[in-house]
Amino acid sequence: MIFTSVLLSTTVYLLALAPSSVQGINQYKTIGNVPKPATCGNSGVLPSGGWIANKRCGYVMGTAMAGQRFDVHSTDGTNYHYGRYRGTGGNFCTWLVPSALDLSTQTTIAASCSTDTAANMCNRNTFGRDFDSPPHQGNGAVVVPLNLSGCSGFYNYFIDSTFQTGSFQDPVPFNMALTSNAGYRYSTRDGRASMVRANVAEWGQVIWFFVPRSCIAGQLPATLNNDGGDSC
Ligand SMILES: *[C@@H]1O[C@H](CO)[C@@H](O)[C@H](O)[C@H]1NC(C)=O
Repeated sequence: MIFTSVLLSTTVYLLALAPSSVQGINQYKTIGNVPKPATCGNSGVLPSGGWIANKRCGYVMGTAMAGQRFDVHSTDGTNYHYGRYRGTGGNFCTWLVPSALDLSTQTTIAASCSTDTAANMCNRNTFGRDFDSPPHQGNGAVVVPLNLSGCSGFYNYFIDSTFQTGSFQDPVPFNMALTSNAGYRYSTRDGRASMVRANVAEWGQVIWFFVPRSCIAGQLPATLNNDGGDSC
C-alpha cells in the first residue's frame, strides 16, 4: 500500500512537469559513406556525406558533411528526414537521405523548422533558377554537358532557410581535372553558384556539387528553364 502511493505521487509529479518543458526533438551527427537513396532509384555511395534536397528524391541542394549535425523534425515512410542541417557555414531546414546519421550520437534540441519552410522549398524557384530542364524532367541525365577541369568544386553553398544567397563551403576532395561526363542542373537565385554533377574518377561515382557559375558561364546555353510552381 505504501509502495503504491509513493509510485503514484512520483507519477503525478512527472506529469505536472511535462507540459512546461520545451518541445525536444533528436539531433544526430552526420556520417560519410552514405548509400545513395535506393528509394529514388539510385545506387552507389556518397563518401563525404548524404545528399540534402528540397524534398524526398528532389533536387540536390548540398551535402550533409560527415561530422556535422542534423536535427530530425520528421521521418517519412522511406526514412527521409526533414529537419535542420547545421554545417560548416550553413544552418537551414532541408531533407536528408536515409542512413546518413550516426544514431548512437542522439541528443535533444528544440524544434526549429516549420512545415511552411518545407512546403515553400518544394517549389524549385524558391532556391534556384536557370534549370537545365522543365520540372520533373532531366533527372539523372546530362542535359547540358560541361567540362569542369578548370573549376573549383564545393559541396555546399546555402547558408540559411531563405536560400536567396550563400557562400562556398566544403571544397570537394577529388581532382576536378579527372572528372568526366559532367552536367549542369541549376544556379542559385543570386546567380553565383551552379549545381553540377560529374563522374569522379577516384571514387567511380557520380557526385553532385557546386561550382562558381562564372567558371561555366561560357558553356551554358542562352536559354535555360525557369518554370516552377510545384507544391508538395
Ligand atoms: C576539358 O578542358 C581541358 C582544359 O581545356 C582539356 O584539357 C580537356 O581535354 C577537356 N576535357 C574534355 C573531356 O573535353
